[in-house]
Amino acid sequence: MKHIVAPSILAADFGKLRAEMEMVNESEADWLHVDIMDGCFVPNISFGSPVLKALKKYAQKPLDVHLMIVEPDKYLQQFADDGADVLTVHLEACVHLHRSISAIKDLGVMAGVALNPHTPVELLSEVIEDIDLVCLMSVNPGFGGQEFIPNTLAKIRKLREMSRKRKEELLIEIDGGVGVSNAAEIIDAGANVLVAGSSVFRASDPVQAIAELKAVRQFGTV
Ligand code: DX5
Ligand code: ZN
Repeated sequence: MKHIVAPSILAADFGKLRAEMEMVNESEADWLHVDIMDGCFVPNISFGSPVLKALKKYAQKPLDVHLMIVEPDKYLQQFADDGADVLTVHLEACVHLHRSISAIKDLGVMAGVALNPHTPVELLSEVIEDIDLVCLMSVNPGFGGQEFIPNTLAKIRKLREMSRKRKEELLIEIDGGVGVSNAAEIIDAGANVLVAGSSVFRASDPVQAIAELKAVRQFGTV
C-alpha cells in the first residue's frame, strides 16, 4: 500500500486558511491533519469546533482530527458532526479507552489512538483489534516545528510487529518532525501515514513538498 500523506493545518498561515486549504486540495495530499488542543492536556491552545466546521466546508480530503484534549468523550459527537473522518484520542487522556474507541466507532468514523513519546506501544495490546489507526507522537505534543525523537523508529517496528500478528491493516501514523529527510526510514520501519506540518507549510513550494513526501517510497530514499 502506498503511504498516506496528511499535512497538518497547525503550521498553516491562519490569516489565509482558505487559500491554504485550496493548496492542500490541489496537492497529492491524502488527508488533512487537524490538531485540536485545549491548553490542558497540552500546553497550547489551537482551535475547536467552529474552525473544524469551516475547514470541512472547503476540504476535499478527509479530515484526520487529532484531539489533544482532556475528557475527549464529551466532544466526540460534536467533532463527528463537524465533519471529522478520523477521530484520534490520546491514550493518556482516556480513563476508559475501550469506551472512547467504541463511542468513536458508533459515530461511524475511523477510530484512532495517539501515544505520547513515553507511552509504550504494548499498552495497546488489549484494544489493537478495535482500532483503525495508531498515532505515534514523534515529538511531545503541543507545538509544531519540533525535532523528531529517534526512539520513535523502534516504537514503529514494535507496533508493526504487533499489528502483523493481530491487525494487519492497522494504520500507523507518525506525527511530529516528519519531512523528506526522514520519511523513508519512518516508512521502512512500518509506518504508513505521515503527518507533516512545518516541512509542508514552511516550504517554498508546499505542493512540491507534499509530492516529495508522497514519492519517497516510489523513488527510494530521498
Ligand atoms: C504536534 C501536532 C502535530 C504538528 C506537527 O503536537 O500534533 O500534528 O502539527 O508539526 P510538525 O510537522 O511541524 O512537527
Ligand atoms: Zn497532530
